Amino acid sequence: MIGIINGPNLNLLGRREPEIYGYESLDDINNWLLDHVAGLGENGMIFVQSNSEGEIVTALQEMGFDQAVTGIVINPGAYAHYSIAIRDAIAALPVPVIEVHLSNIHAREEFRHKSVTAGACLGMICGLGKMGYALAVETLLSSR
Ligand code: DQA
Repeated sequence: MIGIINGPNLNLLGRREPEIYGYESLDDINNWLLDHVAGLGENGMIFVQSNSEGEIVTALQEMGFDQAVTGIVINPGAYAHYSIAIRDAIAALPVPVIEVHLSNIHAREEFRHKSVTAGACLGMICGLGKMGYALAVETLLSSR
C-alpha cells in the first residue's frame, strides 16, 4: 500500500495556472498513477487531498502509523515552503516519504526555491510533472 498526499490548491489542477501545472485534473493524474502502479504489481493506494495543514499532518500520521503503508508520496504545495509542522510529521514517521512538485520550484520565484519539508524526506523530485509521482512510487516499491 502506497499513500499519496496532495496539499492546498492541488484540487484545482487542470484549471489552476495550466501553463505551469498542466491541463490534467488531480483525478486524471491519480487514475494514471493507479494504472502505472498496477503494472508494477501494486494495487493498493490511498489518496488524500487537503487544503489544511492539520489535515495533512493527520493524514501523514494515519498512513505512517495506523495504515502502515510501504511509503508516502507528498506534494505539500505551498506548505513545502514554510510548514515546520508537516516537516516534523514526516520526520516522525517510520516509513519513507518522497516529496514531489509538478513544477520546477528552483526555476520560479525565489520564495519557492526553499523546501523546509524536503529535508525530512528520502528525496525530492520537481519539475517533471506527473512523472514525478510515478518515479517516487517506483522508488518506494523498489525498496520494499
Ligand atoms: C507545487 C509548487 C508550489 O510552490 C506551489 O505552491 C504549489 C504547487 C508544485 O507541484 O509545483 O501549490 O507544489
